[in-house]
Amino acid sequence: MLMDVHNTTGSKQARYIQHSCGKTVAYSAQELVYRVTLGNLNAKGTLYGGHPLFIADGFAAEIALRHSGFGCDTLFVDGGKFWAPAYLGDVLIFKGSVNRVWDSSLEVGVRIVVRRPESDQEEHLFSAYFTFVALDENRKPIQVCTVIPETKEEKRRFKEAQRRRNYRLKHNKKKAYT
Ligand SMILES: CC(C)(COP(=O)(O)OP(=O)(O)OC[C@H]1O[C@@H](n2cnc3c(N)ncnc32)[C@H](O)[C@@H]1OP(=O)(O)O)[C@@H](O)C(=O)NCCC(=O)NCCS
Repeated sequence: MLMDVHNTTGSKQARYIQHSCGKTVAYSAQELVYRVTLGNLNAKGTLYGGHPLFIADGFAAEIALRHSGFGCDTLFVDGGKFWAPAYLGDVLIFKGSVNRVWDSSLEVGVRIVVRRPESDQEEHLFSAYFTFVALDENRKPIQVCTVIPETKEEKRRFKEAQRRRNYRLKHNKKKAYT
């Protein structure tokens, strides 16, 4: 059943579903494998950084959709350092899962590793955290099922996600344009 109530955690007016549902992290966790092609390279012959970011955003959105059952808009991206270059023929492996759910928003973590064709070694390329807002058919934020972290790693990510959310809320308040 859907009803309109005032959200108690800061967002304006999320539509709430009366339920007590929860889904495991494993339910929506996914992997995506992508081989670097000529069109992905910059003038120096290494992977253009925007390309994995573009893929990661769409990949994370699919995970958010799978978990929530709603179309989700990207609200926030916490990026980081590119730890290694990638070259033509390298294989990028995207690993993503839901770290935490609040009311209408959820954080999906994406880790990208690169596998070189000449070895089976995986190197960390990049990690990012995508915050999505689940929206109903009128683009109103809508409540999402909670996530149930099961493994030690999932529980660590769950805990750390709250710290990141606190930081985002504190340091990204709306400013009036002059
Ligand atoms: C998504 C959108 C409709 C949400 O509208 P809004 O007015 O910001 O909605 P609310 O204020 O109700 O906030 C929605 C959620 O975002 C969270 N949120 C808002 N600002 C936040 C911030 N700085 N950091 C973390 N979470 C934040 C709120 O806490 C709320 O989550 P919760 O319900 O889990 O608590 C609107 O922000 C939008 O259209 N953004 C653009 C999205 C887009 O186009 N993305 C693609 C990029 S080009």
